[in-house]
Amino acid sequence: MKALILSGGSGTRLRPITHTSAKQLVPVANKPILFYAMEAIRAAGITDIGIIVGDTHAEIEAAIGDGGRWGCKVTYIRQDAPLGLAHAVKIAEPFLKDEPFVMFLGDNLIRDGITGLVKRFEAERPNSQILLAHVKNPQDFGVAELDGNKVIRLVEKPEKPMSDLALVGVYMFDKTIFPAVNAIKPSKRGELEITDAIQYLIDQGLKVNSHIITGWWKDTGKLEDMLEANRLVLEGLETKIEGDVDQESKLIGKVEIGPGSRIVSSVIRGPAIIGENCLIEKSYVGPFTSIHNSVILCASEIEHSIVLADSKIVDIGSRIEDSLIGKNVVVCRDCGKPRAYRFMLGDNSEVSVL
Ligand code: G1P
Repeated sequence: MKALILSGGSGTRLRPITHTSAKQLVPVANKPILFYAMEAIRAAGITDIGIIVGDTHAEIEAAIGDGGRWGCKVTYIRQDAPLGLAHAVKIAEPFLKDEPFVMFLGDNLIRDGITGLVKRFEAERPNSQILLAHVKNPQDFGVAELDGNKVIRLVEKPEKPMSDLALVGVYMFDKTIFPAVNAIKPSKRGELEITDAIQYLIDQGLKVNSHIITGWWKDTGKLEDMLEANRLVLEGLETKIEGDVDQESKLIGKVEIGPGSRIVSSVIRGPAIIGENCLIEKSYVGPFTSIHNSVILCASEIEHSIVLADSKIVDIGSRIEDSLIGKNVVVCRDCGKPRAYRFMLGDNSEVSVL
């Protein structure tokens, strides 16, 4: 069996972070989201992986390389424009050939991995196996209608959802998917939808099995989902202290601190992860916070947030919460006159002030 990871797309819902970085490389608990997909696929025993890349191909290729670090062989497949998930399958046919494969959306995180699901697909050999999850906002996903266990209808982002069962971004197919992706027409949003291709399989009388997952699953396309994914992953964190923590500091709960980091006169209440070479001084880091490498946090408080590498947060009077702070960002108090907010914000930034 092969795997196809989709790592194109422009990440519009995560701007401005995605103006400079691929959405699949934003770290959750200090690890790029895409790495979780690589690990899940490898754990299922699959080593031959195709990765669909778009405009951000250079960054994805630099992060994943030849896949050797996961014991896998990676082939990159270039998609010139984000024309849809079914379009990605279409252009991957020369790589996938006749082999059954698992398709994994590179911005999806699935707690229990895919090992059991791949085994089930290999044992039952349907033409396709889809994963479903109960969600509160089905209109934002592909939605399934079931009759008992049987999938009877799939609709991409319906205005009036037929159920609360969303299509999870992990799918398994055999070669019958190729005629399907070639037969369907672009949707209203101008994309070839994999949802329509699976509906085509159903209409042709082919076998589409479904499995409703019970462990958590997150599509990290939006800020809230990214923070939620970070929270869910950090819930499983184990304490590991490799940096220096001074006498005046207090670590509570599960906390990971990377090598070269210094915690000075601060309180860290886990679950929280701090990368390498950070300085956390006279500060409070609250639960569900991930701070990446070489960050300076001084006389500030932060909770339920993600801070990317090389950023600096100094002397902020109020607690920072529910935030995603990019790379090399400076957030500081300005005592200059006249008293004013002074910003340099990228396009599509969002700032809430007190
Ligand atoms: C895509 C699929 C959708 C699926 C979702 C899962 O949506 O089109 O059917 O439910 O992934 O993450 P998109 O991320 O393109 O909006």
